[in-house]
Amino acid sequence: MLAKYSTYEETSYLLLYGELPTKEALEEFSTKMRRLRDLPKKVEDCLRELPPHPHPMDILKVAVSHAALYDPDRLRCCREGVMRKVIRIVSQIPTIIAYYHQTRSGQEIIPPDPELGHAANFLYMLHGKKPEEEEARIFDIALILHAEHGLNASTFAAMVTASTLSDINSAIVSAISALKGSLHGGANERVLKMLDEIGSLDKAEKYVLNALRVKRRVMGFGHRVYKTYDPRARILKEYAEYLSNKYNDRKYIEIGKKIEEVMIRELGKKGIFPNVDFYSGIVYHFLGIPRDLFTPVFAMARSVGWAAHVCEYTTNNRIFRPRAYYIGPEYVEYVPIEKRR
Ligand code: SDX
Repeated sequence: MLAKYSTYEETSYLLLYGELPTKEALEEFSTKMRRLRDLPKKVEDCLRELPPHPHPMDILKVAVSHAALYDPDRLRCCREGVMRKVIRIVSQIPTIIAYYHQTRSGQEIIPPDPELGHAANFLYMLHGKKPEEEEARIFDIALILHAEHGLNASTFAAMVTASTLSDINSAIVSAISALKGSLHGGANERVLKMLDEIGSLDKAEKYVLNALRVKRRVMGFGHRVYKTYDPRARILKEYAEYLSNKYNDRKYIEIGKKIEEVMIRELGKKGIFPNVDFYSGIVYHFLGIPRDLFTPVFAMARSVGWAAHVCEYTTNNRIFRPRAYYIGPEYVEYVPIEKRR
């Protein structure tokens, strides 16, 4: 329902405050987000100095940490202060991603446009021109679909960090670090790489069967919890199909649908189906988002979900400290170093 009727701003408000906003509250919240998009000049300058080769998720980690040093609320722990930090982080992450892309491409920095909504503004900063309304809306829906998803690895990483009473910025950096992994947020970028490796529809089945034969994970499939078709993937598949037709380029979607058919035939009985990462990359491809920015875009969307879980958990905080079963030898003698072989 949120993907159909809401916006990323409205969904963010719901996640942070636990209820859908009134018209006035949404206007105030959206205005706050627009005002907090800009980066401190030192952070902008630093983005220009960073090397172009690291993965943008590494840049995101550095820049979110760096921006926190200039956050006027950085020492505040009260709910209002933390909420201002959260809205600032959520609003600045798109700017960090876009600024880095511009500087690494040798382009002039395009500052945020306060007239544009969250989704449209990112595409504007990335491409230097205002996006078509329908494409901004498709991107807004993709952000909503990625905004929150329970205790996934990156959200849990944020909560573990926050449970020590560390700060929200550090918790978000922990989450970014966890999301980067190919088994989590990093899968979307690898799906497009896989589609390119396959190259043509007639090679798709053989590629998948070979991957399964050597027990190689096919990116974009499976889930630690979902053992059914990820409902987010169904919606993203529709938009991937729509944009493929709009741009008259069906190569990716045809190969993707064939992979889906083979994977469900081979592993459906094990509960392996497309997840949110399988079709999102095709949507981002047609929205002109560079492939190595797919996971940073996931982080841009999920930042509010991370923050919402941290704020909720720390209202009744207990430090996370899991136990482990020791399965090693009962007794091991200490052998002096000179006698060790
Ligand atoms: C996200 O938690 C969240 O909510 C995450 C997320 C979110 O919104 O935050 O939904 C986003 O991270 C989605 C997942 C993105 N990752 C990928 O697409 C990477 C590929 N997928 C896998 O590596 C895997 O499916 C996991 C990591 C997602 C889940 O791993 P599990 O729980 O270990 O998989 P499983 O136990 O269900 O596997 C059962 C069997 C195994 O074979 P056997 O050991 O029984 O022989 O299915 C196989 C697995 O090897 N299998 C796969 C597979 N996923 C599972 N085989 C091939 N390709 C795959 N993708």
